[in-house]
Amino acid sequence: MHIDIITTLPRLIESPFSDSILKRAQAKGLVSVNIVDLRQYTNNKYHSTDDYAFGGGAGMVMMIEPIDNCITDLKSKRQYDDIIYMSPDGELLNQSLANTLSLKQNLILLCGHYKGVDERVREHLITREISIGNYVLSGGELAAAVVADAVIRLIPGVLSDETSALSDSFQDDLIAPPVYTRPAEYKGWKVPDVLLSGHQAKIDQWRMDQSLARTQTRRPELLKKG
Ligand code: ADE
Repeated sequence: MHIDIITTLPRLIESPFSDSILKRAQAKGLVSVNIVDLRQYTNNKYHSTDDYAFGGGAGMVMMIEPIDNCITDLKSKRQYDDIIYMSPDGELLNQSLANTLSLKQNLILLCGHYKGVDERVREHLITREISIGNYVLSGGELAAAVVADAVIRLIPGVLSDETSALSDSFQDDLIAPPVYTRPAEYKGWKVPDVLLSGHQAKIDQWRMDQSLARTQTRRPELLKKG
């Protein structure tokens, strides 16, 4: 998989890809992440990427020209499955959407800023819009990092067997069961006996019961999805 992330603030998004699982996924050649500086695609002296809104009102709007130049340049090198605009009014990210995106080859994530992008970008250049939740961030960069992380960890080979994404919360529409490690007792707080029993069938049953009970109490809407 290849992901291009278009941003006016490259530094804001570099670090999540420079550590741990996302760094190793790139080192193993399972994914390449390219952070593209939108300012490189401006034709004006000040490299500005935004301008005042027609009709007035507070907040600047990201201009279509640099975004079009950038996307056109990227498209000349690759065919993209989706060109995604990160926006609070987009489709809500969930595990199922992450699974869908993890099967794609080439993705562009466009990070917005200010009051958003000129609507013509959304009408003509974008194929999909994604929100990471019903709240407004200062820009799309953190949201793009969240999407990229949720997607990359699902690519086969990125996680080792022990950390397999198959046992994640939400993967089967259930919350994951609680986990414990040594010591078996701390300040009198004990690990459930069954986990120390060595009886794998009982442990599996306990985990399933816990998953169901947790989902019922914390996220009952997941059980109703059918
Ligand atoms: N940009 C600003 N807020 C956002 C959100 N909640 N999701 C995606 N992109 C955003």
